[in-house]
Amino acid sequence: MNQPTTNGHSHNDHNNNRPAKGKPAFASQLKLPLIAAPLFLVSGPELVIASSKAGIVGTFPALNQRTTEGFAEWLVQIKAALDPGNGEQPAPYGVNLIVHATNPRLEADLAVCVEHKVPLVITSLGAVSDVVDAVHSYGGQVFHDVINLRHARKAAAAGVDGLIAVSAGAGGHAGYISPFALVNEIRQFFSGQVILSGCLSTGRDLAAAVTMGADFGYMGTRFINTQESRAAEGYRQMINESSAADIVYTDKVSGVNANFLRDSLAKAGMDDATLHDRSDIDFGSELMPDENGEASAWKDIWSAGQGVGSIDSVPTVEALVTQLEADYRAAILEQAATLS
Ligand SMILES: Cc1cc2nc3c(=O)[nH]c(=O)nc-3n(C[C@H](O)[C@H](O)[C@H](O)COP(=O)(O)O)c2cc1C
Repeated sequence: MNQPTTNGHSHNDHNNNRPAKGKPAFASQLKLPLIAAPLFLVSGPELVIASSKAGIVGTFPALNQRTTEGFAEWLVQIKAALDPGNGEQPAPYGVNLIVHATNPRLEADLAVCVEHKVPLVITSLGAVSDVVDAVHSYGGQVFHDVINLRHARKAAAAGVDGLIAVSAGAGGHAGYISPFALVNEIRQFFSGQVILSGCLSTGRDLAAAVTMGADFGYMGTRFINTQESRAAEGYRQMINESSAADIVYTDKVSGVNANFLRDSLAKAGMDDATLHDRSDIDFGSELMPDENGEASAWKDIWSAGQGVGSIDSVPTVEALVTQLEADYRAAILEQAATLS
C-alpha cells in the first residue's frame, strides 16, 4: 500500500520512480540536465517530442490547446511518439499547469495528467498540496516556478519536488533577482531539485548553472528559435537580430511583469511613451487561446529573455542539443583542467 506521508511523499518512493529527495528517476535517462521550458503558444507536440527524443525534457503548457480534450489528444500523440516499443522506459516529458482561480480548466487538466501519468508537472502561480498529492499518487514529479523566496517557501511547504528559480532576465513572466542570490537562498532551506531559469542559451551557460548549484537548467527563449517551435518566422528573426538591450521588462502588456522584444511592442503601438497602465490581472484570458486558437497580447507582442544576444540561428532541436552537449562538456573539462 502506498501510504502518503505528511510531506506528500509516499513510503515506497524507491519503488515508484520517485526517490524522496534525490534526483528524479528520469534524470538518468537524460543526455543533459536540461528542461526545454513550457512556452505559451510556442510549444506543441512537435517541440516536446523532438526535445525528449534528443535527451532533454520537453514540456508544454496545457493551455496551448484550446480544450481539455485537445490537451488529452496531444498527450496521446506525445506518448505514442516517445514509446520505444521494446518495453523500456519512454523518454520523460512535462506539462505546465496554471494553478490560479482564473484558470477554469485546472481540475479537468489535472485529471488528464493523472490519467496519463505525466512524468513531470510544472505548476505556475499557485503551489497547492492537492495538486502535488494528485501527481505523487502515480509517481510523478512536481516542479514549481518561483521568482522570490516567499513563493519558494510556500511551494516547498506544499511538498513540491523541485523549485524552478526564475531569475532576472528570463523570458515570459521573469523574476528580478540575480540567479546567484536566488539559487543560494533557495538551497539554504530546500533539499529538493533546484532548476535555474533565465538567460541560459548555451551549453556553457548550462555548465555554469550546474556549477553554481542547480540540478537542472531551464531554457525557454533558446527553444523558440528551433525548427520544431510554433513561433512565427518574424518572431524567430527578431530573436536572431536582438540583444539584451532590446528586451523590455514591463507590466503594461498584461498587468504582470514580463520581458518582451522592444520591436514587437513598437509594432503593436507601444513605445516607452504610449505604454499605458493596465492593472487587470487575469491569467484565464492572458494565457488562454481564444476561439481561433490564438491568444490576446502574446500572439503579436513577442516575449523573450535577455539571453537573445547568444542566439542567431534556428536549428533543429536535435542539432541544438548536440551543440549544447558539446559545449557543456567542453566547459566542464576546461574547468576541471584549471585545478591541475
Ligand atoms: C514566449 C514565452 C512563453 C512562455 N510561456 C510560459 C508558460 O506558458 N508557462 C510557464 O510556466 N512559463 C512560460 N514562460 C517562461 C519559460 O517557461 C521560462 O521560465 C523562461 O523562458 C526561461 O527564461 P529564458 O527564456 O531566458 O530561457 C514563457 C517564456 C516565453 C519566452
